[in-house]
Amino acid sequence: MKVMKIYSEFARVYHEMYQSIFNYEEGFKLYHKHLSKLNCRKILEIGCGSGNLAKFFIEHKYDYTGLDISKEMIELAKEMVPDGNFIRGDMRNLELDEEYEAVIVTGRTFTHMTTNHDVMFALNSIHEVLQKEGWLVFDNFNAYEIFTAFKEEMSHKANYDGRKYSRKSKTSFDLEHGWTWKWNAKYEVEEGEKKQTFEDEIMLRAFTEDELRLFLTINGFKIEEMILENNAIQTVAQKINEKKTNAQQLYFKQKLNKISET
Ligand SMILES: C[S@@+](CC[C@H](N)C(=O)[O-])C[C@H]1O[C@@H](n2cnc3c(N)ncnc32)[C@H](O)[C@@H]1O
Repeated sequence: MKVMKIYSEFARVYHEMYQSIFNYEEGFKLYHKHLSKLNCRKILEIGCGSGNLAKFFIEHKYDYTGLDISKEMIELAKEMVPDGNFIRGDMRNLELDEEYEAVIVTGRTFTHMTTNHDVMFALNSIHEVLQKEGWLVFDNFNAYEIFTAFKEEMSHKANYDGRKYSRKSKTSFDLEHGWTWKWNAKYEVEEGEKKQTFEDEIMLRAFTEDELRLFLTINGFKIEEMILENNAIQTVAQKINEKKTNAQQLYFKQKLNKISET
């Protein structure tokens, strides 16, 4: 998988920009509410990034592991949260020795599962690392909201420790892979006299409720709750069978293609 510059070379830019774009404490409270209700303490966070939520989970005495595909994000997470347990991995191919009571995929990380193939591999892999009757809590862009009010241009500004950040994004419909769109983002970082620019272009995906329902069902999950808020769908689902479903058996026996490179 192509890892975006903002998650690799410029991971620190992401970390610093998002401190004012996203309220991580509120984000944590939401997961904490679900996990407390489900009685889960041993958790795997997929797409942990620089460990913004990790510090809250550790403060609240969770048995926490953070996982991310980006080497730079994992290095940053270890720097930001020295007592955290972080590992590098791809959610479509998790090869972990441990099993977890819950897997959470945070901060719209699942939006990078742009092909049906990616989605199948990711959910199958998550199913494998969950304990019996374990839980998956994840958030996704809601296709209905994204595509009925499609924004072609967006801009964000942020300040952090004397550095000024700006991001100008352009988006265009793709629809080749599902409810997907192309996202081009141009970043500017200013620090005193110094100015740096870079650009990312990537595909992102949103889901309809029905799509999530189908993908989860054929990968052995039962949906407990779907919460629609703003442009997102937060889903709580439970692993219901140890054995693979018929669809999983067929699909993964065939394994016609490797996980995609896009
Ligand atoms: C939108 S960021 C969210 C980061 C963090 N949750 C936050 O909110 O600050 C998405 C993260 O998912 C990671 N990621 C993307 N694809 C992944 C994959 N296939 N497996 C694991 N992590 C992935 C990226 O490297 C990035 O750190």
